Amino acid sequence: MGKASRDKRDIYYRKAKEEGWRARSAFKLLQIDEEFNIFEGVKRVVDLCAAPGSWSQVLSKKLYLPAKLSPDSKCSDLPLIVAIDLQPMAPIEGVIQVQGDITNARTAETVWIFVIKLIVIRHFDGGKADLVVCDGAPDVTGLHDMDEFVQSQLIIAGLTIVTHILKVGGRFIAKIFRGKDTSLLYCQLKLFFTQVTFAKPKSSRNSSIEAFAVCENYKPPEGFNEKDLHRLLEQVGSPSGSDDFDCSSGWLEGPNRVYIPFLACGDLNGYDSDRWYPVSKSYEPLEPVQPPIAPPYKRALELKKASNHGHGSDHGASQ
Ligand SMILES: C[S@@+](CC[C@H](N)C(=O)[O-])C[C@H]1O[C@@H](n2cnc3c(N)ncnc32)[C@H](O)[C@@H]1O
Repeated sequence: MGKASRDKRDIYYRKAKEEGWRARSAFKLLQIDEEFNIFEGVKRVVDLCAAPGSWSQVLSKKLYLPAKLSPDSKCSDLPLIVAIDLQPMAPIEGVIQVQGDITNARTAETVWIFVIKLIVIRHFDGGKADLVVCDGAPDVTGLHDMDEFVQSQLIIAGLTIVTHILKVGGRFIAKIFRGKDTSLLYCQLKLFFTQVTFAKPKSSRNSSIEAFAVCENYKPPEGFNEKDLHRLLEQVGSPSGSDDFDCSSGWLEGPNRVYIPFLACGDLNGYDSDRWYPVSKSYEPLEPVQPPIAPPYKRALELKKASNHGHGSDHGASQ
């Protein structure tokens, strides 16, 4: 079975290779778009945690390439896409890449955010982004509380960047892990966006706690100063400090608990990501479209290979 086994087990993995996407995640963004029309009117977009690049491919294909191929396109009108990740990724047409850690703002204060702002806004000709997407995920440990916490740090880092570079009225899409603090996160996002929906694309497995916050119409609180973000977020959901915020009905538990709009998206009669789909006997699995160029597990693979070699030569020597 080998490679074909994953192709049977994971229809979206198989389809991604067939359709030329670097990762199956591409379908999640496409299915979110089917429901929320997130690319409408978008000219400037930032893709946070972008590697290996399937979301950037979607952005390039949906926004950049049609504009470039249009007979009356002008260079100055072409959509701008900036992608940021810890890892480098292979080039994608129309996508400007920045390598860096989006959570750095906490340690290096605002310097890194300032750098991102400078890079993004310079590439955007002084304007702000219409859309920010963030599919960031830490290496999951399987300890749900821990994974949810680390994930929430990525979202907060994403939100910090959003407050610097997103235009009023813009959208922010972020991967979340649903857990016991989901209501708190919802309320924190609601401070900045008039509409927040948690969406589960059909290509995201039901067995996974992953979902996506689709935040529409960026509208920071009046007089908001980006420096106050963390103080403001900490106040939300605290039993004492939240009365001023529209989604804070006191503590977020018991009868005051908030109800979060939750939507399944993507063609509900389409492929089910939790099902196995058979392949024919003559089926030849395709290679991945673009393997990560410097994945964090590269060193581990090298060590494993070296140790296998070691075992091999010991064995050979003993014969
Ligand atoms: C699920 S992958 C993103 C997949 C991508 N959207 C795609 O479609 O190809 C998660 C990415 O988050 C990145 N990431 C995790 N923590 C990060 C951080 N602190 N700063 C920047 N990127 C980060 C990882 O390097 C990884 O490439």
